[in-house]
Amino acid sequence: MNKTTNWTPNSAESRDLAYHLHPYTNPEQLADSGPHIIESGQGVYVRDNENNEFIEGVSGLWCTSLGFSEESLISAAIEQMRKLPYYHSFGGKTSNPSIDLAEQLVEVAPEGLEKVFFCNSGSEANDTAVKMVWYYQASVGRPEKRKIISRKKGYHGVTVAAASLTGLSYAQDGFALPLDFAKHTSSPHYFADSLEKETEKEFVSRIISELEELIEEEGANTIGAMIAEPVMGAGGVIIPPEGYFEALQKVLKKHSILLIADEVICGFGRTGNMWGSETFGLKPDILTCAKALSSAYLPISAVMVSSEVVRGVEEQATKLGIFGHGYTYSAHPVSAAVALRTLELMKERNIVDNVKKVSQKFCDRVHKLSKYKCIGDTRAVGLIGAIEFVAIPDSRVKLDPNLKFAAKVQKLIQSEGVILRALPGDSIGFCPPLIINEIEIDKLFDRVEKAMPRADELANRVA
Ligand SMILES: Cc1ncc(COP(=O)(O)O)c(C=O)c1O
Repeated sequence: MNKTTNWTPNSAESRDLAYHLHPYTNPEQLADSGPHIIESGQGVYVRDNENNEFIEGVSGLWCTSLGFSEESLISAAIEQMRKLPYYHSFGGKTSNPSIDLAEQLVEVAPEGLEKVFFCNSGSEANDTAVKMVWYYQASVGRPEKRKIISRKKGYHGVTVAAASLTGLSYAQDGFALPLDFAKHTSSPHYFADSLEKETEKEFVSRIISELEELIEEEGANTIGAMIAEPVMGAGGVIIPPEGYFEALQKVLKKHSILLIADEVICGFGRTGNMWGSETFGLKPDILTCAKALSSAYLPISAVMVSSEVVRGVEEQATKLGIFGHGYTYSAHPVSAAVALRTLELMKERNIVDNVKKVSQKFCDRVHKLSKYKCIGDTRAVGLIGAIEFVAIPDSRVKLDPNLKFAAKVQKLIQSEGVILRALPGDSIGFCPPLIINEIEIDKLFDRVEKAMPRADELANRVA
């Protein structure tokens, strides 16, 4: 199942190299390896143009929740295309799919979130959330509350505001980011960031004290909100330790700092409940979601807002004469129709119950990988998990980042027929489609385990 790296002139590969600038790709490495062209999908599987089959163990980019061949989503798009392929929602115009979707989203939203604004990506949703915080704080007479706290290793996207909130250098280096409004505090990554012999409880209380110190240094009167993913995805699938969000929210409340839950990965069942906020006890004032909202079949994202924040935003907009924000494709009727059908399918097929049902096997199989010497930590909840590599067995000693060990292991695993994602901190993430069954979970991990002895050998050689 190894991809060949030779391509002929005028092949799809050579044309891709000639004309396509890839996101999040090292151009030099790409020129060397060539692109990997995925041609078709069926359920949890995808196939490339050399007819190699892979289990998509990370749902594309954490998003294709209903798999790669859901006919009724295709039909929903076609029907809506025929009826009304485009309309906007500026100046009070709207379309039926967006009305229905907004209503359905509010129905399934965590308690207290009562209105929806539509965008096209997770980044746009987070930028929109920031602007709403600024409007809201101005409306309640606190216009200087403009800073937003986020966390190191958090991922919130790549637009200028969202990239500023992201706490990973690869999204900021070379762009002179973050902008000043973004302030980063510690991430709740117990395995990597706890002190020697520090218990999880002590770790939580230390990083919450660090948050309080940051608020004190910056001045609570300058901080409008904090943004947090319930489980930090792209930063390494970091699952919050017990008590973390409870303590964090107490601090925010004390200082009238709003909470934005970035549910772009966690939303729609990923952690075993509809929302990561439910699984980890967050009570957000604003919630952003995307990806599984349409099972990624079309781009759409949403910002859900509490009645208090909506009131402020609408008051400020009335004062200024307009809510001066929106995208040409906000509430695109075709994307909205597909998202609506996705929500219906989630109900009809009890997708969240399926996650609950298969999660035990998934989590067990992730944790069983700890038997390989190069793996220092395993973590999993619902249908999301990660393994983290170390240089010395049973230690927390990190491998030299220049070795790019996780990326190498990811390639070994891919050669066995599973696509996964190498993440910062030498981790590999798992996030299969939510429709995966127990047989497919076994198949996924059996293939991963075929590659792992070679990963251990590799670790031995480089240690
Ligand atoms: C938690 C989170 N927020 C925001 C984003 C950005 O979404 P997009 O790539 O659609 O802009 C992502 C993307 O992976 C994400 O994981």
